[in-house]
Amino acid sequence: MMAKAKTLFYCTECGNETPKWQGKCSACGAWNTIVERPAVEAKKKPAAAAGMDVSFRKPRAIAEVEAADELRFDTGMAELDRVLGGGAVKGSLVLVGGAPGIGKSTLMLQICDNLCRFANVLYVSGEESERQIKLRAQRLGIRDQGLYLYAETELDDIIAAVQEQRPDILIVDSIQTIYNGDATSSPGSVAQVKECTMALMHLAKGMGITVFVVGHINKEGSLAGPKVLEHMVDCVLLFEGEEHNSYRILRAAKNRFGATNEIGVFEMGDKGLVEVPSPSEALLSGRPENMPGSCVTCVMEGARPVLAEVQALLSPSAYGNSRRSCNGFDYNRAMMMLAVLEKRGGLNIANCDFFVNVIGGLTLDEPAADLALIVALASSFRDKPVPFDLAAIGEVGLTGELRAVHAINQRLSEVRRMGFTKCLVPARNSMKLTPPEGLQLIQVHNIREAIAALLV
Ligand code: TYD
Ligand code: MG
Repeated sequence: MMAKAKTLFYCTECGNETPKWQGKCSACGAWNTIVERPAVEAKKKPAAAAGMDVSFRKPRAIAEVEAADELRFDTGMAELDRVLGGGAVKGSLVLVGGAPGIGKSTLMLQICDNLCRFANVLYVSGEESERQIKLRAQRLGIRDQGLYLYAETELDDIIAAVQEQRPDILIVDSIQTIYNGDATSSPGSVAQVKECTMALMHLAKGMGITVFVVGHINKEGSLAGPKVLEHMVDCVLLFEGEEHNSYRILRAAKNRFGATNEIGVFEMGDKGLVEVPSPSEALLSGRPENMPGSCVTCVMEGARPVLAEVQALLSPSAYGNSRRSCNGFDYNRAMMMLAVLEKRGGLNIANCDFFVNVIGGLTLDEPAADLALIVALASSFRDKPVPFDLAAIGEVGLTGELRAVHAINQRLSEVRRMGFTKCLVPARNSMKLTPPEGLQLIQVHNIREAIAALLV
């Protein structure tokens, strides 16, 4: 009897595999996305095939494992190095994700300028021709010693070129255009993207090459449809920004070699991306004077304090059912602040439309920004501006009480550095406070006191 050829079913949206066909993917809930493909025989020892040292492939006592610090090098962009955890790690694979047009190719080309000084760099593009890349490189003023371009989409050809040239650094732009001719699925599909990333990962580990892979993010905000790539690679950097705004924020969503809470800030200009070493300055530029509904706070982005402007608009709803929208601030947290303000702050805001916006594309995910939101909301409701030289820092609890925040002194220094002279802080922080000269602290116990201090 002939053995029946084994087949597998997988979702083209999220990559989830199932033994039988389904109308709806049980993993991501998408309809009509399950397709069939032949089951691939698992290769024996894939690691050995990729040139990894197989002597590592057995259990070892932790004491015997060598653990010298990983080798790092500067990319020439301090903001990128910061997000990578202090430079790029040799032999690692970094995925740079972002919406089309955000500046991923530009960033990659710009780091070549520094990398070429000490390394052999191969820039593979499946999106632009060599001529197009050269023109862009010239415009950006990239030095051309040691930089090789290769416009190719076939995975095998790319691997062959890498094996022949043995670059120290490989840039692949973008993973969605790379194609493995042996596989049956189409370029850009989840299976292809997964397979090509795996092959590049083996190149990185096997040959000690540092690989940067560019990936486009679809409208749902996930890389290549699913999160399938995230667990494979060493580092996922997300490049974010708003269309109408030239600032770009780079953050690490995953980093095997560093913290994930650092951000890098860039500005896109006509000479490409320029680093913004003082994000506070950039994020506060253009702040309206004497306008109600705006309050500045200070959040910690990794080890760095960053000032951000929280804007709120409260106005009576026209038709009874109120509209609520929230940008740059956690929606549920904002709803909680709204309820606390109504109940504990004594403001009758139940029938109001409610809009919150954080300027500059920053997402505030720290409770220390609570107080600024409360103040901005109250300021908008009372139609009274917050003093221009005042910032507010503090976590707000459900009873309206103000809670201590960490790294308060670092935040206060940044607030002062940016020219503020007053800062609203939780009274409970008072034990450890060492405010910088010229900064007056207004210590409050709860949101009622905060509102009373500013807005009556
Ligand atoms: P790009 O790096 O091609 O984006 P991605 O690779 O993420 O798709 O950047 C494209 C955008 O950046 C494009 O809209 C033009 C703009 N840009 C500038 O404003 N200045 C520049 O110097 C460069 C190179 C691009
Ligand atoms: Mg591009």
